[in-house]
Amino acid sequence: MPGSIVSPTDDALDAAARALAEGKLVGMPTETVYGLAANAWDATAIGRIFEAKGRPANNPLIVHVASADRLEQAVAADLSAETTRLIERLSPFWPGPLTLVLPKHDRVPREATAGRSTVAVRVPDHPVALALLARCPFPLAAPSANRSNYVSPTTARHVAEGLGDAVSMILDGGACRHGLESTILTLAENPPRVLRHGALPAERLAEALVLPLSMLLREGPTAKDDGAGLAAPGQLPLHYSPATPLRFRESYAEPFDSARTGLIAFRAVPLPSDHAFARTELLGDAADEAAIARGLFAALRRLDEAGLDLILVDSCERAGLGRAIMDRLDRATRRDVSDER
Ligand code: TXA
Ligand code: MG
Repeated sequence: MPGSIVSPTDDALDAAARALAEGKLVGMPTETVYGLAANAWDATAIGRIFEAKGRPANNPLIVHVASADRLEQAVAADLSAETTRLIERLSPFWPGPLTLVLPKHDRVPREATAGRSTVAVRVPDHPVALALLARCPFPLAAPSANRSNYVSPTTARHVAEGLGDAVSMILDGGACRHGLESTILTLAENPPRVLRHGALPAERLAEALVLPLSMLLREGPTAKDDGAGLAAPGQLPLHYSPATPLRFRESYAEPFDSARTGLIAFRAVPLPSDHAFARTELLGDAADEAAIARGLFAALRRLDEAGLDLILVDSCERAGLGRAIMDRLDRATRRDVSDER
């Protein structure tokens, strides 16, 4: 049955690999978020991803490979000695939540990279994703398996809710361990630069590359430059937004009806006033950013489904994993864009 959630048995993985070889789409668990996978060498299948997500054609996809050795098997090309050295330094993070932007091989169709000369690649650290990749004689392009601009999915059910009709099946790998997308680092610039904060803190990259953190975090081309200068189009403000207005609790000064308001709290002990909210989602202690990251997207979805007028959310320190958490929340709380919808 199209779109059904299946347990990742050997038979189901075989069927998923066959579906992908036929150009169909499969919902695939990874350690970060669920991906909407297709054969990365098949331009028609890639087109189906963009159609299913309602994704603008200028926003390129991440290509998933089974191991770093596969990089040069028609995914990336012409890697310089310096780039190869950097990839080696980063090898402890693969498999893992690190995406590298590298020069693209011709076999990857321009549709997958939105016409760019670079390709974003990663090795996912999830047994189901790796088992599926092992069965496929091609790499897998997979953006997060949500409708464009909505919150990324961290369970198989989230995928079914948003894209159930578009996929031939969804492999159920349980709830994602990180719950935030991968960190994107471009090696197409020298020195490398972080294009998207994610589940791997930039501090870890700075350590591995023996570079100052500020260098990796320097500003690059922004969305204003134009399509071609747009380094990571996923950084557009509309991303990750629930339909219900979301605001930071600490800076929200307007009057609101607490009976129509939900709260996403980052503290283990809620304030007495928290009980006045229609719904409270408690993600754990502010010191445990991994727990906040893991639960954040699912909490946003649950509160968004509750039909409230407003969702308030706590904030955390912008360091380590907190940088990625606050990046997603900054985008999702942007008034100028979310109030227009
Ligand atoms: O954790 C993840 O990265 C998940 C899982 C499924 O692997 N995937 C994911 O894909 O988050 P997606 O499509 O939602 O985000 C991909 C991001 C976008 O911001 C896109 O603009 C950027 O990667 N990107 C892809 N190719 C790029 C390239 N050649 N240069 C710069 N940015 C690129
Ligand atoms: Mg996404």
